[in-house]
Amino acid sequence: MKSFVCLLLLLTSVSAAAEDGAKLFTPCRACHSLDPTEQALPGPKLSGLIGRKVGGDPAFDYSPALRKANAEDLRWDVQRLDRFLADPAEMFPGLWMSIRGVEDATERAALVRFLSDPASR
Ligand code: HEC
Repeated sequence: MKSFVCLLLLLTSVSAAAEDGAKLFTPCRACHSLDPTEQALPGPKLSGLIGRKVGGDPAFDYSPALRKANAEDLRWDVQRLDRFLADPAEMFPGLWMSIRGVEDATERAALVRFLSDPASR
């Protein structure tokens, strides 16, 4: 019985985290799509982001800041994405994305998880 309760608690917290990630991504959807076939929005597509080069959506015309990072072969991994979302313009001065960073580390982790793992969507 005890382990059953633990399992339930675990399942509830996992699905809550996934929902949080989706919820936190809602404002990003105004500019970003996760569907590679969707029509162009004001920002680059974020499907397959982890492992992809920074500035790596071939259909998007990036700022010089992100084009430079792309030329330097920087890639998105979980740590870089987390640091980026904390303060986007600090990582890439001159960035053309003017949103405030996600200050809360737990929220950021949920958002990063949502963006890294298609199964969590
Ligand atoms: C008002 C539109 C807008 C909103 C809202 C927005 N972004 Fe962006 N985002 C952009 C633009 C434009 C770029 C490209 C910036 C550049 O070229 O300097 C970008 C770039 C990015 C990149 C780098 C992509 C790459 O291909 O390397 C990531 C990651 C990203 N945004 C995540 C997010 C997340 C997560 C949110 C929500 C918390 C968000 N963005 C909200 C417009 C937006």
